[in-house]
Amino acid sequence: MNILVTGANGQLGNEMRIVSKGSKDVYFFTDVVEVEGQNTTMLDITSLEAVRQIVSDCEINVIVNCAAYTNVDKAETDQDFCELLNAKAPKNLAIAMKEVGGLLVHISTDYVFGGDPYNTPCKEDKKGTPTGVYGLTKLHGEQNIQNSGADYLIFRTAWLYSEFGKNFVKTMLNLTATKPQLKVVFDQVGTPTYAYDLAKAIFDIIENRKYTGNTGIYHYSNEGVCSWYDFTKMIAEYSGQTGCDILPCHSEEFPSPVKRPAYSVLDKTKVKETFGVNVPYWTDSLKKCINNLSK
Ligand SMILES: NC(=O)c1ccc[n+]([C@@H]2O[C@H](COP(=O)([O-])OP(=O)(O)OC[C@H]3O[C@@H](n4cnc5c(N)ncnc54)[C@H](OP(=O)(O)O)[C@@H]3O)[C@@H](O)[C@H]2O)c1
Repeated sequence: MNILVTGANGQLGNEMRIVSKGSKDVYFFTDVVEVEGQNTTMLDITSLEAVRQIVSDCEINVIVNCAAYTNVDKAETDQDFCELLNAKAPKNLAIAMKEVGGLLVHISTDYVFGGDPYNTPCKEDKKGTPTGVYGLTKLHGEQNIQNSGADYLIFRTAWLYSEFGKNFVKTMLNLTATKPQLKVVFDQVGTPTYAYDLAKAIFDIIENRKYTGNTGIYHYSNEGVCSWYDFTKMIAEYSGQTGCDILPCHSEEFPSPVKRPAYSVLDKTKVKETFGVNVPYWTDSLKKCINNLSK
């Protein structure tokens, strides 16, 4: 089969490059910009014609959409473009896959929830209640795909980090190395997700054709629960940066344009039972990522 990866220069896209090495399928890596040293075909997924063209030229059977507008705070003042990239562009991909009888694998987020607080891990059928533009546009993207008639897998994930791009782990590695003291919120809990683990799960499902008959939405984060404070403590410990005094604080100390839920944990029972995927514990994966970054 021929597999198209969009947003291949982002966190998840780069992990897809790694996990798909040696695949029996042929992978095509695309993004809207070229990065030196990366083999990337240009593709702007906001153009339906461009998407149709590459699907036809490369005889694509599956699209893995790793492209998105991911700046949650900036989205509040950039709604039209955010909607274009997070809602209209996934519709383009779904239309193109429907036309050739292919599969769209799409990534969504725990930010589709939040307006209706919960305190036990959240299942896939919970109603979306976003609190900001990013979450709302990601929810629209899900709905557009569901209404397209194409076969799809949507993976909602959370707190994504990797060796690539900008993310919380890399920011905290820098801050704990350079600051004597750091305050981090302890009143928001969730589960970090190593993008490599999610990419591996997606790759395994495609490589072994496990998606047949399993169209739908799935939750995937790492296992366990922690606050951003706990997450930072572990980042500092695993990197050996113990010189920084890390203190817990309340969210009010860091005002943000978007209200973040106090509890945002995804229930992963469905993805494990349907596909038999392995979901590592969050600290085990964090250790691996920090080891890779230190190489
Ligand atoms: N990051 C998180 O914490 C998090 C949490 C939950 C869910 N998610 C979801 O997980 C998925 C992957 O996130 P990520 O963190 O890997 O994203 P990312 O690192 O921001 O990568 C997104 C990639 O898409 C590219 N892109 C932007 N506009 C495009 C266009 N018009 N056509 C094609 N590509 C375009 C970006 O290029 P530029 O950089 O040049 O714009 C970037 O390379 C997204 O769907 C995101 O919503 C992320």
